[in-house]
Amino acid sequence: MRALKISNAKIVNEGTIEQKDILIEGNRIAKIGSDMEVSETTEVFDASGKYILPGLIDDQVHFREPGLTHKATIETESKAALAGGITSFLEMPNTSPQTTTLEQWEAKNERAAHTSYANYGFMFGGTNDNLDQILALDNKRVPALKLFLGSSTGNMLVDDPEVLKKIFRNTNLVIAVHCEDETTIRENLKAAQAKYGDAIPIEQHPIIRSEKACYLSSSKAIELAKETGARLHVFHLSTAKELSLFRNDIPLSEKKITAEVCVHHLWFNDSDYKEKGTHIKWNPAVKTKKDQEALWEGLNTDLLDVLATDHAPHTLEEKANPYTAAPSGGPLVQHALPALLTAYHQNRIALEKIVEKACHNPAILFDVKDRGYVREGYFADLVVVDLDREYKVEKTDLLYQCGWSPFEGTTFKGSIEKTLLNGQWAYDQGKINPKSAAMALTFDR
Ligand code: DOR
Repeated sequence: MRALKISNAKIVNEGTIEQKDILIEGNRIAKIGSDMEVSETTEVFDASGKYILPGLIDDQVHFREPGLTHKATIETESKAALAGGITSFLEMPNTSPQTTTLEQWEAKNERAAHTSYANYGFMFGGTNDNLDQILALDNKRVPALKLFLGSSTGNMLVDDPEVLKKIFRNTNLVIAVHCEDETTIRENLKAAQAKYGDAIPIEQHPIIRSEKACYLSSSKAIELAKETGARLHVFHLSTAKELSLFRNDIPLSEKKITAEVCVHHLWFNDSDYKEKGTHIKWNPAVKTKKDQEALWEGLNTDLLDVLATDHAPHTLEEKANPYTAAPSGGPLVQHALPALLTAYHQNRIALEKIVEKACHNPAILFDVKDRGYVREGYFADLVVVDLDREYKVEKTDLLYQCGWSPFEGTTFKGSIEKTLLNGQWAYDQGKINPKSAAMALTFDR
């Protein structure tokens, strides 16, 4: 069996940073300790001066396959994820066809088994008429159910209140929701069209997809979850106001209502629209500086449970359209961790907190089996980080198929040097190992 010893690493894990050695045998961590004797055949990597994090588990990505492969594929984006220290991803159902039948869900898994470079799990999409399919899902293989309670890429709006109630009442799965109130958005859009005609400025995006739209929808979803006892996870919080809907006085494992925040809502605010234009058009919209500050605070005080990307690539041509026709979303998986490490240097977040929110908590929340921690017996998914290396994001370094990034020109402090996936070096200083070690995620429930 292949053995690897990573020595002298500063391991960021479970609230501490400790210098130890890690022995990996096969695809799992065999031992964590000091002064470990190993056999002559064991490969040794001296990680002196570097930090080791558990591989990140990104609970929200859009890899566009099947059907939207002009934007991205599972292969291209999972490679970019590895370069960004993300070793496991949960992918969304708004592909074409949508992942709303068991057949499509199996087909996506089958495709990933052959093409993914990172560990994968696929959320199942709820619609107004697929409750029978939802009830037939295998909870050990499906991470969660995804419901669009506001329209976004892919027309997957679930808007029948009776259907919603039935889904909330009947599934044991985590229900992950996109919350933006449709009626509010439509009214705001109509008002903007009356004022600007076809030339709506991008700065109107957070006014159209407003705080009110977010708050109305997430509070309604939470009310329904409380009424039905459902396990609800609200995706991509973007406003200060919504934070009042969540609690931080109980541990995550006891929470029935949880929240995610994405890197773009932490990094950007509405003053960035002028320079970045539609490249930072997301649903929900990037909002004010006050919202941005509140999200950092909410993350650090545990009102927000999970850090993710909502990686959602579109082509540059699509993004170059006028406001209403330009799709929302942007590629992020390669740069989320560098952005967070840079935020660490700016005293916005501790390294231990990054690991808690991006590695441990997704594992707890979705019952991901044997991942998300540096622990003996767990899969060896690890990231080697150089905390002090500064580098500028250049187009030539991007692994995204769409070939652009909202971070182009940004200088980050903190780089991903290597990524270990299931015990194998999967990414090493700019290079992806052509041999994939990816596995399907399983869920321990
Ligand atoms: O900005 C977004 N883009 N938000 C979503 O919820 C969907 C995503 C996409 O798939 O393009």
